[in-house]
Amino acid sequence: MNLQSLESIAKALVADGKGILAADETVGTLTKRFEKLGISSTAESRRDYRELLLTTPGAADFISGVIMYDETIHQRGSSGMPLPDVLLKQGIIPGIKVDTGAKPLAGCDKETVTEGLDGLRDRLQEYRAIGARFAKWRAVIRIANQLPSQTCVNVNAHALGRYAALCQEQGIVPIIEPEVLMEGTHAIDRCGEVTGNVLHAVFDALYEQKVSLEGMLLKPNMVVSGSACPMQASVTEVASATLRCLQLNVPAAVPGVVFLSGGQSDTAATVHLDAINKMAGARPWKISFSFGRALQDLALATWLGSKENCRAAQQAYYHRAKCNSAATIGKYSAALENEFTDETARGHRSDCEDD
Ligand code: 13P
Repeated sequence: MNLQSLESIAKALVADGKGILAADETVGTLTKRFEKLGISSTAESRRDYRELLLTTPGAADFISGVIMYDETIHQRGSSGMPLPDVLLKQGIIPGIKVDTGAKPLAGCDKETVTEGLDGLRDRLQEYRAIGARFAKWRAVIRIANQLPSQTCVNVNAHALGRYAALCQEQGIVPIIEPEVLMEGTHAIDRCGEVTGNVLHAVFDALYEQKVSLEGMLLKPNMVVSGSACPMQASVTEVASATLRCLQLNVPAAVPGVVFLSGGQSDTAATVHLDAINKMAGARPWKISFSFGRALQDLALATWLGSKENCRAAQQAYYHRAKCNSAATIGKYSAALENEFTDETARGHRSDCEDD
């Protein structure tokens, strides 16, 4: 493992004003999102959608890396160029999701453990050979009355440690994603308590498994109220609870924290990220984004599977990337949202690639 090159990749992913696009939905998840909007899901339509995002003119000003799914990283764009090369050409770093999903955890009702360690070394070698320089693994932790169990927290932390150590051995930066779900009626304090416990267990596992903290990124949830909690915490409360949780549990050697959006609306995710950065002051890590839905929702709902809507969909994605870029340096304001209408009215700089 070359620690210096891992560190430089990790730093590039959280370069000033930049964050990550998570476009690594499995075929099943993307199909569900397509079908909700009446878009038919085929290997070709999924390719067209991903290509639209990956070729958005100017997005590289705000996006440092894109996490792809196995199907996408093996696809070619309409010009015939492999999609990882389409990214590299723009200076965007290709990434890959390497877990194989959250499966029921034996002995722990309603809880899951994320699988995908078998054969992982070989898969990482193959992905690296086709351009991937970072990889993601998502563990899922659910809050309910008696949940999460410490068993669930520990087995998921252990798996994250094993995946991260294998990634670094293969010269790939691990993006370590322990997601505490928003679903539930719990208050923000409970989310903070569980997230803190999970991060503690994860960093214990990383230490035990000799993972270099300088050569990784952490992708946590923000500390928020449960989505069905009647008392929703304010933006300031979210920012201060999230920062406190990070300060207590994330070692200073970690170069960056890149949040998931977790089902927050796109603007709520941006507003929270901005408030966290405005409040953060001097802190050891960069604080940025690795959003999926919060970057893509409007773009997908605009595209609707039609080539004619490609340009408008790219504008929607570009706009959210720009707003989130501003939020990574605490410079977002509601006025930026209005620029979207102006940008749209002026038209975008270039069309989608032709088929
Ligand atoms: P969301 O931002 O939609 O939560 O997705 C991020 C992600 O990568 C989930 O694994």
